[in-house]
Amino acid sequence: MTALELLRAVAHNAPVGVVVTDATIDLPGPTILYVNAAFGRLVGRDPGSLIGLSPRFMQGKETRRAQLDSFRRAMTAGVRFHGYLTNYRADGTRYRAEIDCRPLRSADGRVENFVSFEREVVRRVGRPAMSADGRYEPISVGDDMLAGVLQELALFRHI
Ligand SMILES: Cc1cc2nc3c(=O)[nH]c(=O)nc-3n(C[C@H](O)[C@H](O)[C@H](O)COP(=O)(O)O)c2cc1C
Repeated sequence: MTALELLRAVAHNAPVGVVVTDATIDLPGPTILYVNAAFGRLVGRDPGSLIGLSPRFMQGKETRRAQLDSFRRAMTAGVRFHGYLTNYRADGTRYRAEIDCRPLRSADGRVENFVSFEREVVRRVGRPAMSADGRYEPISVGDDMLAGVLQELALFRHI
């Protein structure tokens, strides 16, 4: 079983959005190879309709270029990107997305895919904004078991 196959099996019913692309950073890439059902719900589209698109389809007027530049830099360096982007749904509504994107490497170390775990977050009320992590909270919390797994994987956390 390849890492991608394993990921698909685990991601299928996960409540957090999962999107896998190829490793092409420049246009027309990255090309979406897989999304789970939760990702379809997050972006308000049928999962099957997203295969072959670039994740740029979620961008809009208020998506910040500086954030995309640091995303691109992380991909180019083959390291994780953890950050917050303004994404848009099919119906044009805007949402704040927490993105945890990682390269998937073959046994010989080549980056073969990128996988991103995405969820909607909202601004916390009445808390000091020490870091972006403290400023946002997930709009919905998964079940306890999933929360534990995400913690084990250090998903959505700074390292
Ligand atoms: C797996 C994956 C998920 C991504 N998810 C998003 C996303 O939710 N929103 C977004 O604006 N960009 C997302 N991107 C980033 C864009 O596809 C693109 O790489 C980014 O805009 C930088 O490229 P550019 O400098 O050509 O714009 C994602 C990229 C990858 C590889």
